[in-house]
Amino acid sequence: MIERGNKDWRLMSRPRLDFTKETPRSSEFDDDYYSPEDGLAESTYVFIEGGDVINRMQTLQAGETLTIGELGLGTALNLALILQAWSEHGPAGARCHVITIEKHPLSRSQLRAASARWRSLSQEFSTICQRWPSPIPGCHRRAELIDGLTVDFWWEDVSDALGDLESYGNRWVNVWFLDGFTPSRNEAMWTKDVLRGVATLSCDAAHVATFTASSDVRRSLERVGFKVSKRPGFGRKRECLGGVLDLTQISNDEHIAPVRPTAWDQPACTEKPQQCLVLGAGLAGSHIARRLAERNCKVTVLERGTIGSGGSTQPQGVIYTRPSHKHSKLADFSLTAYEFSVDHHQRKFREGSLEEGIDGALSGYLQLASDEVLERLASAFDDEDSPLKVVSREAASSIAGIALTQGAQHYPSSGWLHPRAICTELLDHPNITVIEGLGDTTLRQGDDDQWFAIAATGDCVATGDTSVITTAWEAVEDAWLEWLPLQPIRGQTTLLPSQGVLKDLKCTVCHAGYTPPAKGNVHCIGATYGLNETSTEERAADHETNIQQLLSNVPSLDSAIGSERPAGQAAVRCATADYLPIAGPVPNETEFMTTYEQLRHDRKRLINKKQPNIKGLYVLTGLGSRGLTSAPLLSELLVSQMLDAPPPVTRYLHQAVSPARFLKRRLVKG
Ligand SMILES: Cc1cc2nc3c(=O)[nH]c(=O)nc-3n(C[C@H](O)[C@H](O)[C@H](O)COP(=O)(O)OP(=O)(O)OC[C@H]3O[C@@H](n4cnc5c(N)ncnc54)[C@H](O)[C@@H]3O)c2cc1C
Ligand SMILES: C[S@@+](CC[C@H](N)C(=O)[O-])C[C@H]1O[C@@H](n2cnc3c(N)ncnc32)[C@H](O)[C@@H]1O
Repeated sequence: MIERGNKDWRLMSRPRLDFTKETPRSSEFDDDYYSPEDGLAESTYVFIEGGDVINRMQTLQAGETLTIGELGLGTALNLALILQAWSEHGPAGARCHVITIEKHPLSRSQLRAASARWRSLSQEFSTICQRWPSPIPGCHRRAELIDGLTVDFWWEDVSDALGDLESYGNRWVNVWFLDGFTPSRNEAMWTKDVLRGVATLSCDAAHVATFTASSDVRRSLERVGFKVSKRPGFGRKRECLGGVLDLTQISNDEHIAPVRPTAWDQPACTEKPQQCLVLGAGLAGSHIARRLAERNCKVTVLERGTIGSGGSTQPQGVIYTRPSHKHSKLADFSLTAYEFSVDHHQRKFREGSLEEGIDGALSGYLQLASDEVLERLASAFDDEDSPLKVVSREAASSIAGIALTQGAQHYPSSGWLHPRAICTELLDHPNITVIEGLGDTTLRQGDDDQWFAIAATGDCVATGDTSVITTAWEAVEDAWLEWLPLQPIRGQTTLLPSQGVLKDLKCTVCHAGYTPPAKGNVHCIGATYGLNETSTEERAADHETNIQQLLSNVPSLDSAIGSERPAGQAAVRCATADYLPIAGPVPNETEFMTTYEQLRHDRKRLINKKQPNIKGLYVLTGLGSRGLTSAPLLSELLVSQMLDAPPPVTRYLHQAVSPARFLKRRLVKG
């Protein structure tokens, strides 16, 4: 499992590429990325044909998924060929999931240069370039890179990424592309441990395809259960290897299982949801409802008031992140979720599902900061594709269009969104039914594991096999979640008319609060923090606090603040004791404490039991001040848990947001 502790933050290192006859060559490994004779033909022959990809795609039934794993993404030529094959052969209703691992990801400009010659793949490369992840270590999910196909870009060393995926104990992969430079020039990609990881993650009858004919690789693959065969190599290469996993041939002595962490974050019982109840129609409820609906689950969303009427009520909010020069679960989650959210919303604007200026605008945001903070971030995030750029006061002022008194972190891809519009767009799906105005609704579990939604009137308004609680700080009202350490935090925003200098504002400016460019003719600025307060009446004193906070950080806006009484709204956020959100199966508290009792005495003890969970019950809450950032990724994570599908994050982040972490902490800390 990947552990980062509080090591210094480093972006991924870029490869050094030389081009000979248009073929990229790694100076570090002294090897070509693909055959200089004809890379496209080689990749098609060795991987697409060698992995039986097209046949496997064509024979998928609706609802089935083909999972392809690749060691060494490189210039993404293989990936582009997978996209092309899926566009041509992917059956309706089936899915393709690609997990690709790369330690030295190309920059976007290197990718463009390397792919320029592949005219027949120009559409595929344009899609890949557009959604190419930043060089942040970890897993970057790109949902629906093309229709029905999702890619997980793991920016990690191969053995770290495989170890992390192996830690779940699932066999996900149907086809492997082993493409890690010639074994003699890069042994790390072909170790026995790496090939054991490949086998451990493989389904029965998984194919492995590779360009090499190395006898060491052949022996290692055979040792871990692949039936290996040789076939003619491409071009001047005499032979190459292929293999098919035969699970019945794996002997326990030869196939040494990896050491897995205690699976306290993995539910013992999961069943694919067919009919799901979602309690709450805020950002959390809307995102999870949509992800489930897209996976063919019928969803009923049950809302006390109206869509987006709880914490998600303000007219403008910002997709923020919180980087640090040191790793921590909070900083790492915040950046991973930020990247995913930006990609998700960019796609929605591109597709026209969200309207620029009305539902939001990805015109960037500036986070004002001290020189000391900026200096540390500048060295940790120094890369042409970094999600944040450190800019001087002058540059920040020019980006914002108004005078600023400090330098800033600039996030050019982010911006502001209208949370209620986001919820409405997400809930608009044929598989989703929304029932509003139900008053306080509760969930009950029947004897046959069915779930019933009981409205304030006492009537049962919907049933399902699965339920997700997304009622923010009120999640603790449900008996199964009483133990969650949630805190309500009141927040009020203030609406300012767009006048004077404010009219010039071109991108959101954040300090302790935030000021976005106008939506219509109004800027929604905020926000106040009232810990443990749940009242939502509008207060004149809170408007004063917001305006004073703005002027003390951006004094140039003084003349834009009129004398009229400001208006605004208050709502309640939901924070957790460790500031990380909560997404996962709901553990049975009593059984959890008994199952993992030994952790009280030895926190590192390996206990070979998955989390005893309440069948069919999940929770998504604790989004704090960052629901726009975290809800998309958390929903993706939750759906992967429900479907036993590959996770969109590293395991330590999976654990960091698990609701069960609070119970585990109670055991470990006594
Ligand atoms: C003033 C303010 C400013 C903010 N600014 C930002 C920002 O700039 N960027 C950002 O990312 N985030 C911001 N946030 C935070 C963000 O809005 C929240 O993280 C997000 O709205 C939380 O979404 P949620 O779905 O978890 O909760 P909510 O939006 O509160 O949704 C919970 C829903 O559950 C319903 N409900 C509760 N109990 C029941 C029940 N028993 N039965 C039926 N329904 C029930 C509620 O009516 C509500 O609609 C801000 C929040 C506030 C208050
Ligand atoms: C031959 S290239 C892959 C070519 C690629 N499949 C393509 O379509 O362009 C090998 C890749 O393996 C990567 N690599 C090398 N060592 C690695 C390691 N230890 N972990 C992960 N990736 C590694 C290299 O950076 C390089 O991109």
